[in-house]
Amino acid sequence: MHDMFGRDVTYLRLSVTDLCNCRCVYCMPACGVPRLRHEDILSFEQMRQIVAAAASLGVRKVRLTGGEPLVRRNIVDLVRMVASVPGVDEVDMTTNATLLAPVAAELRAAGLTRLNVSLDTLDAERYRKITRVGTMEDALAGLEAAREAGFVGTKINCVLLGGINQDELRPLAELARTRDLSVRFIELMPMGECAAWPRERFLPADAVLAAVPELAPVASAAPGVAELYRAPGWRGTVGLIRPMTHRFCGQCNRIRVTADGRLKPCLHSAAEVDLRGLSGKDLVQAIARGIAAKPGRHHMDMGHASQTPRAMSQIGG
Ligand code: GTP
Ligand code: 5AD
Ligand code: SF4
Repeated sequence: MHDMFGRDVTYLRLSVTDLCNCRCVYCMPACGVPRLRHEDILSFEQMRQIVAAAASLGVRKVRLTGGEPLVRRNIVDLVRMVASVPGVDEVDMTTNATLLAPVAAELRAAGLTRLNVSLDTLDAERYRKITRVGTMEDALAGLEAAREAGFVGTKINCVLLGGINQDELRPLAELARTRDLSVRFIELMPMGECAAWPRERFLPADAVLAAVPELAPVASAAPGVAELYRAPGWRGTVGLIRPMTHRFCGQCNRIRVTADGRLKPCLHSAAEVDLRGLSGKDLVQAIARGIAAKPGRHHMDMGHASQTPRAMSQIGG
């Protein structure tokens, strides 16, 4: 289905839990954010119905997000359910990968197409400081297990953190030198925890091009939020996701559903459509209303934080 600005909405980001086993400094307070009530969290059957209704409106790709999706119990069953919905061609997951190693093969067998893995540093001590509780070894083991399980086209998400991982841009990019990976650097968006962070923490993605000057733009096969680059002889690609310096709203093809069943037409707006308790035609109509309500662009910049009252961990990115 097209929105009011002619954008074809084919991509649903479904947050399957607001909980996370990490506490990244830019995403959550040290004590965590207030948890959603257990009874408000969508059941697998409700999620399946939402995916099926979205697919009937033209959604073809579903990404499972969190919090951390792997903390949701029986997540492999959910992957299987979503992958079997008619019309759904692709089921992806964004994960911190620290819990991935033991379930990578099962996820693949259940029909998961691709993984995006958050990794902001290659220094174990720094990883602990950024995630507060996570262990880099676990994330790297998860990545390796994904490769062994046969996942291809895995993407690394690395949030640019001025003064924190700024000196690691080259080594992080070089993960794509010999591996079939896309390392994507993401400009930090002022929302929730980091909304009031000092300016020097917000590093423009141009810093990556300065750190790795041999990167040259490549045309991207699939539409997305990242602009792709490659260095001569490298196997994988480097991506820049630049919501702060190069707004990409004109190509936005996505809607989001939170773990408590609210459709968010835009990551950054406060507007939500309540999907709870709806089924059949009513559910399809409510999702269509959400698509129609997609704003043309977000209004976030360095002087204006995101308008969503939700924490990033409650939306899933
Ligand atoms: P692909 O489907 O592989 O292209 O992944 P993706 O980039 O859509 O999803 P992912 O979960 O890996 O998100 C990467 C980063 O992009 C995260 O920081 C998200 O918050 C950010 N992001 C994803 N979608 C949007 C969007 O619509 N607007 C903005 N401003 N940021 C987004
Ligand atoms: N700005 C940019 N990216 C963020 N993420 C979490 N919070 C922010 C933010 N404020 C990233 C995570 C993960 C993805 C889902 O979103 O690191 O890779
Ligand atoms: Fe968890 Fe991701 Fe937030 Fe880190 S950024 S605390 S891994 S949801």
